[in-house]
Amino acid sequence: MAPSGPWPALPALLVLLRALFPGLGNAETSVSPTKVILPRGGSVVVKCSTSCDQHTLLGIETPLPKKELLPGGNNWKMYELSNVQEDSQPMCYSNCGDRQSTAKTFLTVYWTPELVELAPLPSWQPVGKNLTLRCQVEGGAPRANLTVVLLRGEEELSRQPAVGEPTEVTATVLVSRDDHGANFSCRTELDLRPQAELFKNTSAPHQLQTFVLPATPPQLVSPQVLEVDTQGTVVCSLDGLFPVSEAQVYLALGDQRLDPTVTYGVDSLSAKASVSVTAEEEGTQQLLCAVILGNQSQETRQTVTIYSFPAPNVTLTEPEVSEGTEVIVKCEAHPRAKVTLNGVPAQPPGPTAQFLLKATPEDNGRSFSCSATLEVAGQLVHKNQNQELRVLYGPRLDERDCPGNWTWPENSQQTPVCQAWGNPLPELKCLKDGTFPLPIGESVTVTRDLEGTYLCRARSTRGEVTREVTVNVLSPRYGIVIITVVAAAAILGTAGLTTYFYNRQRKIRKYRLQQAQKGTPMKPNTQATPP
Ligand SMILES: *[C@@H]1O[C@H](CO)[C@@H](O)[C@H](O)[C@H]1NC(C)=O
Ligand SMILES: *[C@@H]1O[C@H](CO)[C@@H](O)[C@H](O)[C@H]1NC(C)=O
Ligand SMILES: *[C@@H]1O[C@H](CO)[C@@H](O)[C@H](O)[C@H]1NC(C)=O
Ligand SMILES: *[C@@H]1O[C@H](CO)[C@@H](O)[C@H](O)[C@H]1NC(C)=O
Ligand SMILES: *[C@@H]1O[C@H](CO)[C@@H](O)[C@H](O)[C@H]1NC(C)=O
Ligand SMILES: *[C@@H]1O[C@H](CO)[C@@H](O)[C@H](O)[C@H]1NC(C)=O
Ligand SMILES: *[C@@H]1O[C@H](CO)[C@@H](O)[C@H](O)[C@H]1NC(C)=O
Repeated sequence: MAPSGPWPALPALLVLLRALFPGLGNAETSVSPTKVILPRGGSVVVKCSTSCDQHTLLGIETPLPKKELLPGGNNWKMYELSNVQEDSQPMCYSNCGDRQSTAKTFLTVYWTPELVELAPLPSWQPVGKNLTLRCQVEGGAPRANLTVVLLRGEEELSRQPAVGEPTEVTATVLVSRDDHGANFSCRTELDLRPQAELFKNTSAPHQLQTFVLPATPPQLVSPQVLEVDTQGTVVCSLDGLFPVSEAQVYLALGDQRLDPTVTYGVDSLSAKASVSVTAEEEGTQQLLCAVILGNQSQETRQTVTIYSFPAPNVTLTEPEVSEGTEVIVKCEAHPRAKVTLNGVPAQPPGPTAQFLLKATPEDNGRSFSCSATLEVAGQLVHKNQNQELRVLYGPRLDERDCPGNWTWPENSQQTPVCQAWGNPLPELKCLKDGTFPLPIGESVTVTRDLEGTYLCRARSTRGEVTREVTVNVLSPRYGIVIITVVAAAAILGTAGLTTYFYNRQRKIRKYRLQQAQKGTPMKPNTQATPP
């Protein structure tokens, strides 16, 4: 851009003009370049030229530090201007004769912002609420080319010019579930194209946490009354939570913090804890369940009544009595309870009941039950207690359980049964001739040896009873004797009859022969012989 280059004929022309109009001095000052965009603090080389052919005064006027670059020419000079901190317009000047002319160059300084910062986000932001993003920008020039962009991840939410110094740019976002975990940031764009580049500065990102906590309180399922030294189960649940994994549960009974097991559903949670109470906690206690999500919580309270209710005491004058003894059965319970003894409610209703009983053997092992009912916070709670009576009786041996007479066929399979009764249970022995035992309760093959009369003796600490048991064995030999006798009788009878008839026939025949020999006419003998 040396002015001498493209205008080789110009000095000659100027000489001619000057000759024609002496003293006019209309020489022109020019500057190159006329527009410069440079980074703040940078340097620029400016060339001032003049068309004046005379020996002239040529210079530059600027507050910037300047340095003339040598060697210059007859009618031009080069300057290096440095440390340009702000926009300025250095001016070249030249004097041609008595006339001065000037030319300005426009220096535009650019610099990227010193601060680009997104204001901190609330740690938790409810879904469905507006969130205002604020971006603070300090510095940066030229402002006309500086834009502020608010971003969700890489998505542009808003693009605005930076106005004012410092400047704050805001944008409002209606927070949704998708924003949970999203990174918000802001970015400045200093667009100096095409002369220079596009400069981008981005703030540190801020991650947003969003949540949904329904307006409904948690559902609390718990026993309304709880007995001292027992365990109860408490369940607290809530639906419609987002993000459910971030939700926390606080469960406490009075001052006692419970340690629940929490199960998470898609958008629900359920906390289950077992609670045990001691006598110190007797009375009414507050059960509290709080579900905490984000910076909010929802809670439910319930009253639990803690009571103590010992089982009623069933007493017998003596737990073990002899038959015929009178026994008092008595039940005593908590002073506010109402008892029922053996199914019969106390009269008048109250905590005690009793009755008198004459012990019989049937009462041995009989259980007396007492049921007590107590009202706790409007609920009826029950407790039972049993007591068993033992009656001492016997020993006994009777026909029903120890029959006195058995008649069994020989060689058959039989089980002799004899049961002695009594409390304590008597010892039983049945002996024949004092030595031979009856195999009671065993299956035996009946032999003649079994036959006989046994003396059964039942013995307990309470005494002794005896009973005779006779075993008759039906021998098969009796049968054979009878058959033999009958058969013999039959044979003898037949033989006797045969002999009689034979003898009779013989006598008849003899008689007829005698008659014929006495001279009676002879008749044929045919009819005389019976078949
Ligand atoms: C802005 O970005 C430029 C490069 O584009 C960088 O040199 C400068 O340090 C950044 N400014 C800040 C404040 O980070
Ligand atoms: C929760 O945070 C939001 C936004 O930060 C705030 O407006 C609200 O008051 C907070 N709520 C509670 C209960 O702290
Ligand atoms: C959120 O802001 C927009 C405007 O920015 C407004 O129209 C809307 O009603 C606001 N919503 C809520 C829930 O505040
Ligand atoms: C947000 O940034 C954090 C780290 O700063 C990163 O772990 C997380 O994945 C980012 N979230 C998204 C949605 O990109
Ligand atoms: C800067 O902004 C102005 C006004 O919008 C525009 O005329 C100019 O071309 C832009 N670029 C530079 C490098 O100044
Ligand atoms: C039952 O008996 C025990 C011991 O004798 C006694 O401590 C308790 O108070 C009695 N319970 C009732 C309900 O009377
Ligand atoms: C045994 O039974 C027979 C008849 O079956 C009877 O004659 C006898 O008297 C009975 N003896 C006893 C001890 O009952």
